[in-house]
Amino acid sequence: MNINDGGRRRFEDNEHTLRIYPGTISEGTIYCPIPARKNSTAAEVIDSLINRLHLDKTKCYVLAEVKEFGGEEWILNPTDCPVQRMMLWPRMALENRLSGEDYRFLLREKNLDGSIHYGSLQSWLRVTEERRRMMERGFLPQPQQKDFDDLCSLPDLNEKTLLENLRNRFKHEKIYTYVGSILIAINPFKFLPIYNPKYVKMYDNHQLGKLEPHIYAVADVAYHAMLQRKRNQCIVISGESGSGKTQSTNFLIHHLTALSQKGFASGVEQIILGAGPVLEAFGNAKTAHNNNSSRFGKFIQVNYQETGTVLGAYVEKYLLEKSRLVYQEHNERNYHVFYYLLAGASEEERSAFHLKQPEEYHYLNQITKKPLRQSWDDYCYDSEPDCFTVEGEDLRHDFERLQLAMEMVGFLPKTRRQIFSLLSAILHLGNICYKKKTYRDDSIDICNPEVLPVVSELLEVKEEMLFEALVTRKTVTVGEKLILPYKLAEAVTVRNSMAKSLYSALFDWIVFRINHALMNSKDLEQNTKTLSIGVLDIFGFEDYENNSFEQFCINFANERLQHYFNQHIFKLEQEEYRAEGISWHNIDYIDNTCCINLISKKPTGLLHLLDEESNFPQATNQTLLDKFKHQHEENSYIEFPAVMEPAFIIKHYAGKVKYGIKDFREKNTDHMRPDIVALLRSSKNAFISGMIGIDPVAVFRWAVLRAFFRAVIAFREAGKRHIQRKTGKQ
Ligand SMILES: Nc1ncnc2c1ncn2[C@@H]1O[C@H](COP(=O)(O)OP(=O)(O)OP(=O)(O)O)[C@@H](O)[C@H]1O
Ligand SMILES: [Mg+2]
Repeated sequence: MNINDGGRRRFEDNEHTLRIYPGTISEGTIYCPIPARKNSTAAEVIDSLINRLHLDKTKCYVLAEVKEFGGEEWILNPTDCPVQRMMLWPRMALENRLSGEDYRFLLREKNLDGSIHYGSLQSWLRVTEERRRMMERGFLPQPQQKDFDDLCSLPDLNEKTLLENLRNRFKHEKIYTYVGSILIAINPFKFLPIYNPKYVKMYDNHQLGKLEPHIYAVADVAYHAMLQRKRNQCIVISGESGSGKTQSTNFLIHHLTALSQKGFASGVEQIILGAGPVLEAFGNAKTAHNNNSSRFGKFIQVNYQETGTVLGAYVEKYLLEKSRLVYQEHNERNYHVFYYLLAGASEEERSAFHLKQPEEYHYLNQITKKPLRQSWDDYCYDSEPDCFTVEGEDLRHDFERLQLAMEMVGFLPKTRRQIFSLLSAILHLGNICYKKKTYRDDSIDICNPEVLPVVSELLEVKEEMLFEALVTRKTVTVGEKLILPYKLAEAVTVRNSMAKSLYSALFDWIVFRINHALMNSKDLEQNTKTLSIGVLDIFGFEDYENNSFEQFCINFANERLQHYFNQHIFKLEQEEYRAEGISWHNIDYIDNTCCINLISKKPTGLLHLLDEESNFPQATNQTLLDKFKHQHEENSYIEFPAVMEPAFIIKHYAGKVKYGIKDFREKNTDHMRPDIVALLRSSKNAFISGMIGIDPVAVFRWAVLRAFFRAVIAFREAGKRHIQRKTGKQ
């Protein structure tokens, strides 16, 4: 016998406790606990009950199983095994987390004619009353508190009752709660079986509030409001990083496309569903808050015919976090796609793209290489677990899934290879390191010149041109061309800037191609009236140990979103009540207009001061901070740390965040140098040269035109060959 068999036998022998509710058969007993094993029969259990409760042995009894309150009673045959029935109940019922009435066994008396004796309502009420008294005396657990699925119906609405209600619902795996027409979702961090087709059907064309709150209900309301009012709709999602915005967006899009499939399916649904994983692979990364954090904002607009059939869709992206490509904070990762590629590429791809292991790339290994001591003599790395894999992640599978999704959005195998080759080029580019040529001057050289041919092969640019662009700056003054060597720090910035620009151009190109695939030719027809539903999913509010320009931009975007919410929920709603003559006491709410003005109002908003200092050659981090101080010292929404720290603190709607001023100017003016643009546009690879520095729409049109001419030429050649064959034969 092997260990598994032993394990199984142990499980079979486990003793369970069945709670049997005898009702009126045994007055005064609420339930009787009966020990039983998996194979104990209903007849055996009833025998034990008769003995325990001293019941009349001349009578005939049966066990009835009740599933869910008010549900039917299922009579067990004498040979049925109650424990096995109980094992099929939901986990919550087994842990007695549901109230006793939801799932239970009842003892019933069988009449002489074989029918079941259910007893009178009066006696059932008596038992219930008895139960209530026992609970009052503390002999039985208190029943679960009643919860409200709409916070507006709370009898006493304050922060405590509101949170208690949400907590109480969450404990029962009810993650959704309404506040009028707003839906609050609490991230369960586990899969709940509430998103299957049964739920899609259930929430189709239903009235908000009739069923348990659900994200599908929100999608459904937007869909039907769009059709009935013939007006475009928008669903705005807000929450801090990791709260579930992207997941909710995916559920919404899933439901919005599922709803329209009642008409004919245009195939666009498939592309919409494929677009999600592609965008997430290239635009999401593991952060300290979220293993799949969106590092860009997106607005997905699903377009419909007036009949409600999906026509097409459109994705708009905002602010990809480029700095992540070259540096990640401790315990964070670069964009997912790099890890997918390195884990999932075939042997052939590995050699074609010169792939290495993640730990061999500077852009991926900075987080794991945390030096313990700074002295060169005993420079060693701490033995923390690596950050290349995330618990529960299967990178190979993710790579396959990505390939499939790319196929769904129409990326041909050749395009996919070009993309992967470019990703490899970016990683190798990051490995280029510099050293000073001599101690006497500042001129620099590349320490590892063997990387250059690899990058030049992958980018299909001349090696010498690549070398020159990485170590020297070319400037043209009046009639004169100057070539100046970069200083060490400048060269590193140029290398990183080239990598960031390549990745960001690739991301733009991907979004553009997805949009092209999502665009339906019917969208373009003048006479088809289209309606749309937009879903906004931006990066959530962030407050890390070190916050920089990226967090500043992300939090500003969230501040604007909060303002939008305030406008709609408080201001406009109250104005509407006033206009309708409804008596109403204005509700005080925290208006964040002042914070938004501090950041963006012309001419002294922080962003404008930053632009000024970014264009001023003599500016430093300190001059920028001094400017902030000088203009806004009196503003209560900004503070400056008491200790001489190069930072400032903003009082956001979601809390105070401290931003380090370092790199603000550089990141604000992070664009590609003209000589790098010239280098990449000289690439023999049309995919790379076309992607850089010009409008992707133009690139695409040019590609279509080229394909058209190629097709015409091929057609002509085929015609010529055909004539030659014919005349040859003759
Ligand atoms: N309804 C849900 N059911 C199950 N798991 C969920 C649900 N919502 C979120 N999660 C889990 O939480 C994780 C984080 O959610 P998500 O990526 O949507 O957060 P986010 O708000 O978009 O964060 P960020 O602002 O960082 O992009 C998901 O990867 C998923 O595991
Ligand atoms: Mg997200």
